[in-house]
Amino acid sequence: MAQVYVENLNQHEGEEVTIKGWIYNKRSSGRIQFLMIRDGTGIVQGVMVKSEVSSEVFALGKELMQESSIIAQGIVRPDERAPGGYELTITDLQLVHMAEEYPITPKEHGTEFLMDHRHLWLRSPRQHAILRVRHEIIKGIRDFFDERGFVLIDTPILTPAACEGTTTLFETDYFDDKAFLAQSGQLYVEAAAMAFGKVYCFGPTFRAEKSKTRRHLMEFWMIEPEVAYADHEDNMRLQEDLVSFVVQRVLTHRLAELEILERDISRLQNVVPPFPRISYDEAIERLQDAGVDIEWGADFGGGDETILAEQFERPVFVHRYPATIKAFYMKPDPERPEVVLCDDLLAPEGYGEIIGGSQRIDDPDLLKQRMSEHDLPEETYAWYLDLRRYGSVPHSGFGLGLERTVAWICGLPHVRETIPFPRLINRLYP
Ligand code: 4AD
Ligand code: MG
Repeated sequence: MAQVYVENLNQHEGEEVTIKGWIYNKRSSGRIQFLMIRDGTGIVQGVMVKSEVSSEVFALGKELMQESSIIAQGIVRPDERAPGGYELTITDLQLVHMAEEYPITPKEHGTEFLMDHRHLWLRSPRQHAILRVRHEIIKGIRDFFDERGFVLIDTPILTPAACEGTTTLFETDYFDDKAFLAQSGQLYVEAAAMAFGKVYCFGPTFRAEKSKTRRHLMEFWMIEPEVAYADHEDNMRLQEDLVSFVVQRVLTHRLAELEILERDISRLQNVVPPFPRISYDEAIERLQDAGVDIEWGADFGGGDETILAEQFERPVFVHRYPATIKAFYMKPDPERPEVVLCDDLLAPEGYGEIIGGSQRIDDPDLLKQRMSEHDLPEETYAWYLDLRRYGSVPHSGFGLGLERTVAWICGLPHVRETIPFPRLINRLYP
């Protein structure tokens, strides 16, 4: 008898098949039991009629606890009312493991309770939908860069130095030395861009940010492309192309999941290039016009980003921030050195910054000067300075935060559900 997955039941109409899974839910009406069986690919309703199975099997059905693991045999029948269009007329059933009383029930649970049971919560349809969209986004990102001839370069996680400022480093012992968990792979993809032209890294990054917001994780995944000979304008074009590609990809491949999440997809359908571009100066004016008490030179908070993004239908670029509030490696605008050739991409609907990018300093003396202004020890960055000594070229890149992108595309209020096991300021368990 063929062992099949629920998602493939349509290829087995009328056949007797085996499904290996878990009891998601059940109900009974005397001589008929309805067993909702999930197998990771979907949920199918198994219908068990008393007169059509052995008395042991019928009795087993009655005893089954939620989330017990079972192997079911049955005949695949089309059923218009069933979620996937099919149900299973059960002919036989074997118990693999009888579950204890399952802590997550259909009633409402508080977030902390669910987060404590994250290892079990992953089994729910909503979490399923989110993590399948996450998978699609990752695959879309990879395809986007692979199809454009970028080379994947894996960058180290244990690193000797900071990339995004020294205040958010996780420090760890490294034999007689100390190491930091990578905040970004950028410095290394810059080296790789000089070797391969167009590259990207895609891995976990770490920030010891004492932020308890709906946008911050201590451990998050970032895609970071870096392109030799690309300037700031090229960089923004690559960003809008990537983000549009990924959104359209999810709309094409994961509509069913977006429906489970009750996502209003009309806002996503708008996400096509070009995206509007405003300067930091203009952003400050817009905020002041909206009544925000903010002066030129200040960084934006989450609330400010929301106000700005609400003024546009699509994601919006804010470019040329003051050098003083940005990272040491960003190239000053030659026409106005107090601002840098950088951009943040703000997602609509209050999701805030999903990308940070910039053209990099290519002049060794200016880079040294910036490093000393940021109190960064030259020895640790000697290799990075080498890139400006041996064939330095203009180059640009950016980092897209995966979890914020998933939260936005899925329409979730908080990033904690966008990653299987979130690391939050107050949570390292499970
Ligand atoms: O703006 P950031 O700090 O930029 C960099 O790390 C650059 N080195 C990237 C580059 O140019 N190669 O971070 C990039 C993105 C942010 O826009 C945001 O989406 C995400 O990473 N991000 C976070 N996501 C979740 N939790 C946090 N604590 C995050 N910090 C940044
Ligand atoms: Mg940033």
